[in-house]
Amino acid sequence: MATRPKVVVAHTLPDAGLALLEQRFEVEAGGDRPDPGWLRKNAPGAAAVIADPSVRVDGDFLDVVGRSLKVVANFGVGYDNIDVDAVRARGVRATNTPDVLTNATAELAVALMLATARRLAEADASVRAGRWGRSAASAFLGRELSGATVGLIGFGRIARRVATLLRGFEVRLLAYSRSKGGDADGVEFRELGDLLGASDFVSVHVALTPETRHLIGAETLAMMRRGAILVNTSRGAVVDTAALIDALRSGRLAAAGLDVYEDEPNVPTELRELPNTVLLPHIGSATDSARNAMARLCAENVIAVIEGREPPAPVV
Ligand code: DGY
Repeated sequence: MATRPKVVVAHTLPDAGLALLEQRFEVEAGGDRPDPGWLRKNAPGAAAVIADPSVRVDGDFLDVVGRSLKVVANFGVGYDNIDVDAVRARGVRATNTPDVLTNATAELAVALMLATARRLAEADASVRAGRWGRSAASAFLGRELSGATVGLIGFGRIARRVATLLRGFEVRLLAYSRSKGGDADGVEFRELGDLLGASDFVSVHVALTPETRHLIGAETLAMMRRGAILVNTSRGAVVDTAALIDALRSGRLAAAGLDVYEDEPNVPTELRELPNTVLLPHIGSATDSARNAMARLCAENVIAVIEGREPPAPVV
């Protein structure tokens, strides 16, 4: 009997996708916290590797997997973890999971705007610590999102969904996008410096590329309105963490809501010690419906490539 192609999952894949793969292939998964080296040990001979933003896929890794490899399927929309040139050079395909996580991630960005503006993490911590009743009546004064100016950096699917969700808050919406100009649907497009100087909230929605690495750094943070709030649900390295910490300490920024970090899962102590941050462990797409849809799309990408068809969500 012919052996079935091997599919190696770097971490885990929700059942909605795993079941589709197991019907057709031999599937091995590393689990939530595989031993260091598990992937390199198990990937050789695989027809497909299911990676995620925490798995670096470079030429060296592709060579370890070997000539059996047909597709690297990322469980996620961002694919900055994949060296696409190295993938292309080996005649391998790469895929991702766009669209299905757009709403979940956009809702999290809005949640971080509200959580930072209304100081939810600090207020929650004070109740849990039994300090309610001992704090001044003026404690936890926040600000309202309604009527504020919100600047979106990048205007892809997720930023556009954030814009739609925010319409009910009657905010003024600004956007900066390298590829887009001209105002549309109530969104005013601005140069980056103008957007930063005019926004009460700035929310980052660009992919991580060499051009966007540290796009928000000391220089751009200095252009932001004093007391503005920064939200990042894209990739940690778009923001220079050291410069952000300085801006939060000096009061230039009132607060930051972060779901992503430069060196995940390590979050600098200085950031964790600041009360004016809301810090989440990269959960932008973490809803049942988004994760199940991602798993299905990821599996469909793998099945299509192994069966010789065009995948539904190709990157390369
Ligand atoms: C993405 O889809 O890129 C998210 O960051 C996944 O974790």
